[in-house]
Amino acid sequence: KHILVIHGPNLNLLGKREPEIYGKTTLNDINKKLHEMADAAKAKLDVLQSNSEGILIDRIQLAMQDGTDFIIINPAGLTHTSITLRDAIAATGLPFIEIHLSNIYAREPYRQKSFFSDLAIGVISGLGAKGYELALQYALTKQ
Ligand code: DQA
Repeated sequence: KHILVIHGPNLNLLGKREPEIYGKTTLNDINKKLHEMADAAKAKLDVLQSNSEGILIDRIQLAMQDGTDFIIINPAGLTHTSITLRDAIAATGLPFIEIHLSNIYAREPYRQKSFFSDLAIGVISGLGAKGYELALQYALTKQ
């Protein structure tokens, strides 16, 4: 198994960014836990956070040729705006799970639309950092 985790813009600030919405867990804490889970399952895990849409797109395109077989993505604010990021993930043809720390359906109307959900295997929204672990657990046990 080779799994790619993508964290979108501003998620580098987790822990200090609106903690009442996004929690106190840092991105490092999340990534550390995911690496532990992947190591225990002898899976390969690549993780990228970027504030730049182009860097995210380039990394997703690379997944078409580096043996990646599953993607876990929190597109962050790009969830609601980016057709180009959607196109990149669609181009890979790879199965993916969309993650949001907060429940986007309980928030502002402009967060309640996602350009990714109809392509995703599934969406986890509102379970905080735990959502990433549940998604990875799914990816690791799937066939
Ligand atoms: C988010 C929700 C988005 O609306 C927001 O722009 C984010 C984070 C989440 O994880 O809850 O940056 O994707």
